[in-house]
Parts: sequence; C-alpha cells; structure tokens
Amino acid sequence: MRKTNYLVLGSGVAGLTFAIKIAEHFPNKLVTIVTKATEEESNTKYAQGGIAVVMNQIEDNFQKHIEDTLICGDGLCNEEVVKMVVTEGPKRVQELIDWGTQFDKNREGAFDLGREGGHTSNRVMHHKDQTGYEIERAILAKAHLQKNIEILDYHFATDLITKNNICFGATVLDEKTNEITFFQSDFTLLATGGIGQVYGHTTNPEIATGDGIAMAKRANATIKDMEFIQFHPTALFSNDLSSTFLISEAVRGFGAYLRNKEGQRFMLDCDKRGELASRDIVSQCIEKELKKSGNECVYLDCTHLDIIEFKKHFPMIYDRCKAIGIVIENDWIPVIPAQHYVCGGVEVDTNGKTSVENLFACGECSQTGLHGANRLASNSLLEAIVYSDRIFNYLKENTITNSIEIHSIEKDTKNQYFDENCIVSTRKKLQIIMQKNVSIVRNNLDLVLTKNQLILWKESIDSLKLNYKVTKEMYELENMIDVSLLIVFHSLKRTENKGGFIKN
Ligand code: FAD
Ligand code: SIN
Repeated sequence: MRKTNYLVLGSGVAGLTFAIKIAEHFPNKLVTIVTKATEEESNTKYAQGGIAVVMNQIEDNFQKHIEDTLICGDGLCNEEVVKMVVTEGPKRVQELIDWGTQFDKNREGAFDLGREGGHTSNRVMHHKDQTGYEIERAILAKAHLQKNIEILDYHFATDLITKNNICFGATVLDEKTNEITFFQSDFTLLATGGIGQVYGHTTNPEIATGDGIAMAKRANATIKDMEFIQFHPTALFSNDLSSTFLISEAVRGFGAYLRNKEGQRFMLDCDKRGELASRDIVSQCIEKELKKSGNECVYLDCTHLDIIEFKKHFPMIYDRCKAIGIVIENDWIPVIPAQHYVCGGVEVDTNGKTSVENLFACGECSQTGLHGANRLASNSLLEAIVYSDRIFNYLKENTITNSIEIHSIEKDTKNQYFDENCIVSTRKKLQIIMQKNVSIVRNNLDLVLTKNQLILWKESIDSLKLNYKVTKEMYELENMIDVSLLIVFHSLKRTENKGGFIKN
C-alpha cells in the first residue's frame, strides 16, 4: 500500500492544472499523478484548434459566447454552468500564459483569434495547429518544478476503492512490473479523458479507452449523457481501423469548403451557416451526403486560400497531408466524420464533486452540464481549466480526510496469462460493432443487438478475470465494454433527438 494526500488519475490538462495548483498551495502535502502511458500522452496533446475564450470584450462579449454554447448544446446545457465557465475562462487562460503557454499573436501584437463551427465571433486562442501540444508542454514543465508532485508514468489505475460510498483511492497496475498496489489517498481526482477507442474511427489516441468513466460506474458514481458522442466532421479519410488524423475545424474557419466528389458545396443546402454550422449538423450532413452518393468520403477544398498564410496557421496539417501525397494548394483533402469527444461522463457539481464522497472528476471524463447535447468547438480545454480551478478552490476551503484505514486489498495471485491475441481481436470486434451500430445515426434494433453482444463479452471478461492474471489490455477491454454498454443503454433510453444524437 502507498499513501498520498492527493491522488490524480491522468496527466492531461485537467489533471496537471489541478495538481500544480494544489501542490503550490499545500507544499507539505504529496500530490501523486498516476498516468497510464508516457506523461504527456493524452487527448490534450493532440488538441489543434485551440481554446474558446472571450479575452477581448471589444469585438466579442461573454453573452455571445454563452449563447453560442447554449445553441450548440440544443437546449440541454446547464445555463448556470455555461455562464460560469465562460466568465471564469479568461483568468484561467491568463494562468496558462503565466505558466509559459505561447498563444499566437497577429502583426499588431494582439492574440490571433481563430474561428470554428457554431461560434459567432473569432474567439479561439491557439498555437498554430498544435495548441494542445503547447499547453501540455508548458504545464508539464511547470509540474516538474513542483517538488511535492510525483508523476508515475506507465501506471494504470484499475479500480477505485470505495466503502460506504466514500472513495479511499485506487488500485494501480505498474505496467513495468505488472504488480498492483493500492494507493490510499484523502482525495481522488478522475482526470482520465475520453473514450474514443471504443469506435473504429476516432481522432483520439490509443490511451482513450474510457477507463475513468468505467471505474466510476463500477464504484456506483452517477454517469450521465453518454448517448451524446461527438463526431468530428473532418478526420482525414482512411480505411484502417485506427486513430485518424484530425483536420482542424479551424481550417474551415479559415475559409475551406466542403465538397462532394462532384465538387458541390453541399453544406449550403443543409444549414445557412454552411461549413461553419455546429459540428453535429456538419457531421450529420456529411453522413447524409455519403449515404445518398455511396461514396467513401467528402473533400475539404483549400485550393482558393492564401497558401503562405495557411502554412503559417496549419503547418502540421500541411506537412501531414504532404507526407501522404496531398498538396493542399492543388488537391482536395479526403475527409470523413470520426468519433472525437464524449459530452457525457461522470456527473459532477460546480465544484467537480461526483456522487461518491471524496471522489472528484474533471475534464473530458466528467459531465458538468456545459456541453448539453453537443459541445461547442474548443470549449473542452476551457471546461477543464475552469473546473480544475474550482476543485482547487473548494479544497482550499474544505479539508478532506479519510479516517477509515483500508488495510488489505485482495492480491491477484494467479500466475497464468490469457492469450493476448484473443483480447486484441475482441477489442477490434467491439470497435467494429460500435462504429457500425452506435454511430451518428442509430436505431433501437441495432442498439439491442449491440447490447446483447456486449453483455456476452462482459460475462467472458468477468470469467477470465477469475481464472487468469489480469493485464492492462484486459482491464482496458473491460473498460471499453463497460463504456460501450453505457452508451448503448443511454441511447436506448433517449426518445428525443437532440444535438449529436439521432435515432430513427
Ligand atoms: P486527456 O488529455 O485525455 O488526459 C487523460 C489522461 O489520463 C492521460 O494522461 C491518460 O494517459 C490518463 N489515463 C487514462 N486512463 C488512465 C488509467 N486507467 N490510469 C492512469 N492514467 C489514465 N478540445 C478543445 O477545446 N480544443 C481543441 O482544439 C481540441 N482539439 C482536439 C483535437 C484532437 C485530435 C482531440 C483528440 C481532441 C481535441 N479536443 C479539443 C478535445 C480535448 O483535447 C480533450 O477533451 C481534453 O484535452 C481532455 O483533457 P483531459 O485532461 O480531460 O484528458
Ligand atoms: C479542432 O481543431 O477541430 C478540434 C477542436 C475541438 O475539438 O474543440
């Protein structure tokens, strides 16, 4: 058993910004960050477009950002939360800047504000097309300076330990030794990010297997809105079942057109905002267009844009396309919608508290009420930094101590390993069935068939866990099954189409 004061699961923007603040404020307390891969690997690292925030009240204002968020959420946002996040945003972004994050500026020295779908103003602060990479770099550097933060990489949190609805920490698998240790803590933060890997096509990296949401579900925390999966309209087209490269919405904000194979700008027939309609609408229109035409993808046309400026704004996208033979000034980019974000998650109040005592959640794994049925572009990084600050402020005022000692956690004494190939092939099958049956447009028959298959896999994994030594891959598969079941159950329950959810 290991003891720590603050246990943080995850080293993306949510986990790190919280850890920095709490460690600075309580220099005599230990903050332990457990993270399942390298310390920088996260959805955060891949964020492209930027952070939506009203830094300048001359051409933009809070009310417009609030309204854009509410419209995008299609009536299901919590308005108080929206107001809170939007108005607290500028101070939190200023903190990122104070900690060394560089945001692009224009020739006049003001922040260069990008535009994305659903926004009525240019308000997206960014660092070229690698905003997440820059933020992750700066906050990791800041966290490394803090002596009372320890970051344990390749440590995989397997389960939360709770008793009488109070959380006492988590069990953690050291991936290098394959040993499980109980980390006992006064406070536990879930900052484990997204769920993208449950789909065959996702913009999320391999680590995004929904572990935090699945662990919280097993610990009986309330999970909400899992039917609201956001599909990004423009992932680079690929036939492979794997993570797909994102072509940022900021490219459409910069003036790119969506065309079908015949060259028609079909978005104009769907929504008067055209390519800059909100993400749910653009993805749904692409889906319709592909069903109608039978084509595999649509195209993003940047050939009319100023290529020098394009390369300045989107160097990574330019280079990535070039590497596969797409020269942006001449060629259209083949794109297709892909899973991108989960709007639902572990329900929290405005202080980030879950329904389990001493367990908090922040970032993509949480459900705050900000996004409703569809997240407004670039509101995710914003939500994470506002909520990590709110949790920190809550803890400054409210001391948390766990008086009960949990002495023994059952040891995994089995020494036989199950065939890894079976785990890998079931993971693939799960991605295929979720991609096919639980995607942009769903129906009850497919949902029920998927549910039945998932339940069978759940039973198999339960029996494997009883008979074989449990590995990270097995835990991930279990989490992916649990998260898929949540998406399916919540989808079956929803009777009204809203935002990113369509059932016919
Ligand atoms: P993450 O950054 O995903 O961090 C999760 C952490 O938890 C990781 O360190 C992971 O390794 C760790 N972890 C997970 N499970 C376990 C476990 N079992 N044990 C231990 N550690 C674990 N949002 C915007 O606002 N603007 C954008 O421009 C933008 N662009 C995006 C582009 C891409 C390609 C993607 C994928 C997402 C984008 N998003 C964007 C969404 C945004 O990046 C994420 O929602 C946000 O970064 C999530 O931050 P987080 O800290 O909650 O989770
Ligand atoms: C993008 O750059 O298109 C992603 C922005 C986001 O997910 O908010």
